Amino acid sequence: MARKIIVSNRLPVKIKRTENGMTFEPSEGGLATGLGSVYKEGDNIWIGWPGLYLEEESEEQQVITELQKESMQPVFLTETEIKEYYEGFSNETLWPTFHYFSQFAVYEQDYWEAYLRVNQKFCERIVKVANPDDTIWIHDYQLLLLPSLVRESLPDITIGFFQHIPFPSYEVFRMLPWRKQILQGLLGADLIGFHTYDDVRHFVSSVIHLVGLPASNGVIETGNRSVMVDAFPMGIDFDKYADTAHSEKVAEIEKTFEEALRYRKIVLSIDRLDYSKGIPQRLRAFELFLKQYPEFHEQVTLIMIVVPSRDQVEKYKELKVEVDELVGRINGLYRTLSWAPVQYYYHSFPFEELSAFYRMAHVALVTPMRDGMNLVCKEYLASRTDGTGVLILSEMAGAAKELSEAILINPNDVNQMVGALYQALTAPEDTQRVAIASMMATVQQYNIHHWVKLFMDRLAYTKEKQNELITT
Ligand code: G6P
Repeated sequence: MARKIIVSNRLPVKIKRTENGMTFEPSEGGLATGLGSVYKEGDNIWIGWPGLYLEEESEEQQVITELQKESMQPVFLTETEIKEYYEGFSNETLWPTFHYFSQFAVYEQDYWEAYLRVNQKFCERIVKVANPDDTIWIHDYQLLLLPSLVRESLPDITIGFFQHIPFPSYEVFRMLPWRKQILQGLLGADLIGFHTYDDVRHFVSSVIHLVGLPASNGVIETGNRSVMVDAFPMGIDFDKYADTAHSEKVAEIEKTFEEALRYRKIVLSIDRLDYSKGIPQRLRAFELFLKQYPEFHEQVTLIMIVVPSRDQVEKYKELKVEVDELVGRINGLYRTLSWAPVQYYYHSFPFEELSAFYRMAHVALVTPMRDGMNLVCKEYLASRTDGTGVLILSEMAGAAKELSEAILINPNDVNQMVGALYQALTAPEDTQRVAIASMMATVQQYNIHHWVKLFMDRLAYTKEKQNELITT
């Protein structure tokens, strides 16, 4: 039977060594949380890095066996590969460039070479397990060269690629020394998907300018194949979030949380620690809000959950210091014996506790400087059991295209963010209900299952069209 082989840098679980042997933990980020619940259908498999280095040879088989039970296959990476390919090229070159932080980008030939080698390593793994009628679905910026590498080895196989982060404008993308190779790498796919039409436009424009291939109506002609490019805004597993939020267990957790917070108004922010998420800008806006509206002192608490991420990368280390200092400054200025304006957590939470936070938050403050989609805002909406709540959302998140009933802000405009906070905290309940109901319906309808089906159907259609052209 034809299978889907999902390929991403990171598996949806991380393996950790503990005293009692190896344990699985869920991985962070939109890709893993978004797709984690759908890949197990049929005989599908997921290939990716299990998040740990092998310390002894005997561990290899152990990891393979454990993962196999969950339909996963590991690609093991060495410490040097993680340093150069993952921390280096993926997260110090591509990530900043694609999020419009080119001033942070490092251009290092060794990183590029490691990136190429690791993409080849992933390709070898795929070639070992794939049957000719399988569909290979490659995900995200760590594996941009993989579509063409797989195409060279398996010329007729169906390959889809989806990028979970933005694709920058041609003027930004062209700054990369390896820009042409990257585009050529992607063009090995039959279908290339992004979250928004703007990303599609930027990608097609880069291909026209840098590779010189003709493109029209989202189809790029490579000479021997047509490559389709389109927007597929990713959704969440709505039922999973809604059912958990409605569970008795979560209601009980919420009650305990509310008592501890003395039933104050809650503004919630949840992100990985990343400069693309606009965490310092958000804190500064909250600080200014407290300065301008003293009547909210002791009445509102910002719960800020920051999940550790890429902590070996310099810019992330610097950001951690900045966030720690800002939180210290705000709490130092305004806190009272019984009130901390910012409750800052630098760790992840179990799913049900996160759900309780979503349930109890009067306002979700989602203000990235740039985000491919952002699923946190969708998770908030799915968890609004009583139909109230306000979403403040950055225009720079892909999700803003779908969730226009949110209070949309520019994260560089601190005064606008302050105004949005005031508007959100004083919003009449009926206004809240109208906006939440409409956005919730969108998130429910365009959920993760809808997204997977849409992408897969389009991929099958693209392949069919190509085959028709070959046989006529
Ligand atoms: C974003 C990326 C994912 C990545 C995740 C977590 O959501 O799009 O590809 O897996 O961040 O980052 P990490 O570097 O820990 O895998």
